[in-house]
Amino acid sequence: NNLDTLYRQVIMDHYKNPRNKGHIDENSVIIDMNNPTCGDRIHLTMKVEDGKVVDAKFDGEGCSISMASASMMTQAIIGKDAETAVKLSHIFSDMIQGKEYDEDEDLGDIEALQGVSKFPARIKCATLAWKAMEKGLDSK
Ligand code: FES
Ligand code: FES
Repeated sequence: NNLDTLYRQVIMDHYKNPRNKGHIDENSVIIDMNNPTCGDRIHLTMKVEDGKVVDAKFDGEGCSISMASASMMTQAIIGKDAETAVKLSHIFSDMIQGKEYDEDEDLGDIEALQGVSKFPARIKCATLAWKAMEKGLDSK
């Protein structure tokens, strides 16, 4: 239907024109993570100041879902405090597994990935970047 088409366009846009691609050099949290089943990997750098994610960039290789999700994740967390970023990750995790999720929070482009819940094999693709983000913020 139209919503699926729109969501597909949003995913492809993030894949082809990734937001926040790159690497933060100064003073950042660095996390490398990979998806053991396919070898896809993400390199995430985040700058956290006073408990707030002031910048985030990613690099890596992966399928369209994993890279689009990484792009959306950085877009969603920049400017948020770490607690909110982790909360978004939990909402995303619920959504992607087809569970009830908190729709009060503004998810922006992230919602375009909700169709992934119908393809359980791809859930790991979509959550890779988010797991990396949570791990990085945990270490702070
Ligand atoms: Fe590896 Fe999607 S196929 S992350
Ligand atoms: Fe198989 Fe990503 S690991 S689709």
